[in-house]
Amino acid sequence: MSSSPLFFFFFLSAVVSAVKLPLSSLSHSDGALPSKDPYLSLRRLADSSIARAHKIKHGASVKPDDDALSSASTASATVVKSPLSAKSYGGYSVSLSFGTPSQTIPFVFDTGSSLVWFPCTSRYLCSGCSFSGLDPTQIPRFIPKNSSSSRVIGCQNPKCQFLFGANVQCRGCDPNTRNCTVACPPYILQYGLGSTAGILLTETLDFPDLKVPDFVVGCSIISTRQPAGIAGFGRGPESIPSQMKLKRFSHCLVSRRFDNTNVTTDLDLDTGSGHNSGSKTPGLSYTPFRKNPNVSNAAFLEYYYLNLRRIYVGSKHVKVPYKFLAPGKNGNGGSIVDSGSTFTFMERPVFTLVAEEFAAQMSNYTREKDLEKLTGLGPCFNIAGKGDVSVPELIFEFKGGAKMELPISNYFSFVGSSETVCLTVVSDNTVNPSGGTGPAIILGSFQQQNYLVEYDLENDRFGFAKKKCTP
Ligand SMILES: *[C@@H]1O[C@H](CO)[C@@H](O)[C@H](O)[C@H]1NC(C)=O
Ligand SMILES: *[C@@H]1O[C@H](CO)[C@@H](O)[C@H](O)[C@H]1NC(C)=O
Ligand SMILES: *[C@@H]1O[C@H](CO)[C@@H](O)[C@H](O)[C@H]1NC(C)=O
Ligand SMILES: *[C@@H]1O[C@H](CO)[C@@H](O)[C@H](O)[C@H]1NC(C)=O
Ligand SMILES: *[C@@H]1O[C@H](CO)[C@@H](O)[C@H](O)[C@H]1NC(C)=O
Repeated sequence: MSSSPLFFFFFLSAVVSAVKLPLSSLSHSDGALPSKDPYLSLRRLADSSIARAHKIKHGASVKPDDDALSSASTASATVVKSPLSAKSYGGYSVSLSFGTPSQTIPFVFDTGSSLVWFPCTSRYLCSGCSFSGLDPTQIPRFIPKNSSSSRVIGCQNPKCQFLFGANVQCRGCDPNTRNCTVACPPYILQYGLGSTAGILLTETLDFPDLKVPDFVVGCSIISTRQPAGIAGFGRGPESIPSQMKLKRFSHCLVSRRFDNTNVTTDLDLDTGSGHNSGSKTPGLSYTPFRKNPNVSNAAFLEYYYLNLRRIYVGSKHVKVPYKFLAPGKNGNGGSIVDSGSTFTFMERPVFTLVAEEFAAQMSNYTREKDLEKLTGLGPCFNIAGKGDVSVPELIFEFKGGAKMELPISNYFSFVGSSETVCLTVVSDNTVNPSGGTGPAIILGSFQQQNYLVEYDLENDRFGFAKKKCTP
């Protein structure tokens, strides 16, 4: 894993205060190896963040409207833990164990989708997957025939409806007898730039103190552009929180400086037995999740919508029209939180307002427009020879007053050299004054580094607090 080309970031991690950056701290390289083309990997991350946003915004997947969940966890532990680590492919990896005996596989941790799937069988094919730094034949996979608990899901099994809805077509089955050996249809899923296809199994999901039998998991036999399987933590019935009926889950994403290292933090899954419902985790600021009013679009029901109210750049309130902050009646607009996006995405009108405000407040520095084109990030500035560098704060304020005052390393990054910095927010070129489709703002994982983040599903709220995630 460590052989992958590390992206050529020099993080602004040694910052003393949130806004003043002593130049002396810039003459280090954090041990990151320059890749042959330092902009290529950044460009790739920016492109995949944008492609991801397009998928999220236009993803009209066929989803069930059936919420009959039948899986029963064998209760014992209240909070179960899985290790999370940062990867140079731009995401965070979570290890999960499936099967009897169990096989442990790394997954992309993704709150923006719901199915859990693993690369499956020794014949798994992955095209365009070498960007992950692994030879595609080396991507860890699950071998169902080595597990005594693997079962192909039948077409009339209610769990087949998790993915295909109540109107799933079961060819050759008599709908009146519930006696059918036809398998649930194969799935094909699109994610940003990549895709995956396979068949649904039930398997035992195995934690050290908890076994979850009959867990629905995808056995993918062919994928494009996937560094690993995906662990879906979205709101769909097939996700980990839904199948395990989690009361809450929380994580602390380590700095991207620890990409491809053995540094891990815990993803905590709270199954809730004995939990004091309604209690807040000390130190966290909370804001309610928001429901998307368009319940006929299944994709919208899968995302965690936030109530973003204001964006500040420095002390300036950037006047973002309300339709971008909260979804309208048609379901479009609004802001979501997504661990599967690397950089935060803002629809062009929002991005322009934010970028112009940074440009105005940083007018003492030369704009690097060529670098913006190269990387897909921006605005970028040359800060060479400026002594103490002033960077305005970036603050997201949510309903209820919870404020995310981002550490500078969560929204500015050195790019290419220690003389140029770019805002790590992306947009696209869709010009649609009435607003686009889907969420307008997607809070990515880069902006969540060194935050304790809690999805309190029981109380339908989102909690966060700044926290150094590494010891
Ligand atoms: C599956 O079983 C075979 C034969 O017993 C063994 O060689 C192989 O290592 C096993 N693979 C996994 C992933 O457990
Ligand atoms: C189910 O199908 C099998 C073979 O297709 C048949 O032998 C069996 O009698 C059927 N059972 C019921 C309850 O219809
Ligand atoms: C993590 O890696 C470091 C350096 O490569 C090594 O010294 C340390 O023992 C490793 N820790 C674990 C838990 O593997
Ligand atoms: C809900 O979303 C769907 C698909 O995006 C759209 O066709 C439909 O018109 C929307 N419903 C309303 C009430 O606008
Ligand atoms: C810009 O430069 C001028 C003169 O060098 C200085 O007085 C001013 O404080 C600087 N402004 C900012 C925002 O750094």
